[in-house]
Amino acid sequence: MPQRPYVIDEMISAKAIAARIEDLARDIRGEFAGTDKLVVVGLLRGSFVFIADLVRELDLPVEVDFLEASSYGNSTESSREVRILKDLRGQIEGRDVLVVEDIVDTGHTLSHVTHFLSTRNPARLRTIALLDKPARREVDFKAHWIGFEIPDEFVVGYGIDFAQRNRNLPYIGKVRFTDDSP
Ligand code: PRP
Repeated sequence: MPQRPYVIDEMISAKAIAARIEDLARDIRGEFAGTDKLVVVGLLRGSFVFIADLVRELDLPVEVDFLEASSYGNSTESSREVRILKDLRGQIEGRDVLVVEDIVDTGHTLSHVTHFLSTRNPARLRTIALLDKPARREVDFKAHWIGFEIPDEFVVGYGIDFAQRNRNLPYIGKVRFTDDSP
């Protein structure tokens, strides 16, 4: 399918993201102070930029692991089915786990992933998402920490893609189509 032409308008600057991550890291350090069994789990692929910046602000002994779950494919419509495509490499039983996500949209992905991980009996299971779109929620899910609550806009950058492009933008941008289609 040919790509519709679009431009990207900056919505959240790299500087604003960095400042917010410092605040979030302070809260997380408070929650996990004293633990030496924290595993920070990034959900591939969208969280790879956020988790990289977040763990470097944590100043705690952490292990990093990754999990991949599918929800959207290449379309902007989310499917209801969530599948685990890549499991963790390490064990989490008895460990403190922080799941890092780029965006909570319908909530299906994090809801499914936290249920999946909780069956492995972690000591603590917490979630953080850089962005939250509460207007799109289809299941009752709330992350423990949120970077920014945003309206129902089509966002890209800082790890988030549009048809696998734009993940490398250092800021969060809003896609604006420039053709005449609705
Ligand atoms: C996106 C995003 C979240 C999820 C949020 O992932 O990164 O993981 O969808 O949607 P939900 O709250 O409606 O479930 P996607 O499946 O596009 O994969 P990606 O991370 O590889 O881009």
